[in-house]
Amino acid sequence: MKAAIIDVDRVTVESIPDPTPGPREVVVAVAACGICGTDLHIADGEFAPTLPVTPGHEFAGEVVAVGTAVDPAVDGVRVGDQVAVDPSLYCGECYFCQRGRGNMCERWQAIGVTATGGAAEYVAAPVANCVVLPGNIRPVDAALVEPLSCAVHGFDVLAPTMGDHYLIYGAGTMGLMMMELAKRAGAASVSMVDLNPARLETARELGCSAAVASADELDRPRGWDNVIDCTGVVAAIEDGLPRVIKGGTFQQFGVANEDATARFSPFVVYNQEIRIVGSMAVLHSFDRAAQLLAEGVLRPDVMISDRKPLDDYPAALEQFRAGVGRKIQVTP
Ligand SMILES: NC(=O)c1ccc[n+]([C@@H]2O[C@H](COP(=O)([O-])OP(=O)(O)OC[C@H]3O[C@@H](n4cnc5c(N)ncnc54)[C@H](O)[C@@H]3O)[C@@H](O)[C@H]2O)c1
Ligand SMILES: [Zn+2]
Ligand SMILES: [Zn+2]
Repeated sequence: MKAAIIDVDRVTVESIPDPTPGPREVVVAVAACGICGTDLHIADGEFAPTLPVTPGHEFAGEVVAVGTAVDPAVDGVRVGDQVAVDPSLYCGECYFCQRGRGNMCERWQAIGVTATGGAAEYVAAPVANCVVLPGNIRPVDAALVEPLSCAVHGFDVLAPTMGDHYLIYGAGTMGLMMMELAKRAGAASVSMVDLNPARLETARELGCSAAVASADELDRPRGWDNVIDCTGVVAAIEDGLPRVIKGGTFQQFGVANEDATARFSPFVVYNQEIRIVGSMAVLHSFDRAAQLLAEGVLRPDVMISDRKPLDDYPAALEQFRAGVGRKIQVTP
């Protein structure tokens, strides 16, 4: 089969052996696989413990083979099913897994990060990681379930209240998903900040309250109940944190460089009872994201800007790096 390969100094599309399912695995014929910042980190040598690796952790497609110990009657997954796949591979045994925090697993692995991923014609995955898609979701759109499940976990951590005002930095795919979830979560208003005018235009099209290049343009003197960073950029983080209302919450959702530091006033955080929370990947949120997608929380036609053949994976990765478009997918 054809598969994208990220190696130390190059990204290629090559022919590699077809996967065969382990006893409790299935093989999925990939309909679409999204590209995100994690793939760039892998290409830049920051994430995957061993290169080369086939990337792709945001994918969906059709089950074409099941392992010897998969029982369709019990597992609910059979050949011909359309599925989205949670790429997380938790050990289930470590300190954090024992406490239901698999996203902190001490032996954390993921399909498309440490194991062969979905930027390929076929990919093997544990049957337990498959969510059979409701009939109204197209498999190519279901590649959005994984990033959406990260945003859903973000909301679990955020624990917002009806009538909250939101300020979101970054109107890329993730910022826009957070915006859509905020509206569903009873936001009184959702304002978006981004430096890229095209991204602000999309935020307007999807129905935000305001879309601006600087939060200074907005008039909310007491601040916002929830300020969410979806950029990972220190300048945005330092701008956003002081804009949290007394008693409100700042969420670090964007992935900053590992060695980045940001300044904040510990006095203000103490004095105004500011809550600062992180959110890391997927946790008990994958199936709920699929349900939300089925109920129309996102407009895939707007969210997905590019669908490219698998052969174009290297160019697609560079297009994502350049910030052109929104969610870019390859469709093997
Ligand atoms: N926490 C998680 O589980 C999780 C999951 C997926 C992605 N992420 C991270 O979320 C972030 C957003 O992901 P994405 O796919 O939307 O990325 P993206 O690159 O498409 O979007 C980021 C946006 O931030 C904007 N931006 C950059 N600097 C800014 C500034 N100073 N002020 C305002 N806007 C600024 C950019 O113009 C861009 O539109 C990334 O850091 C990504 O790694 C986190
Ligand atoms: Zn991703
Ligand atoms: Zn574990």
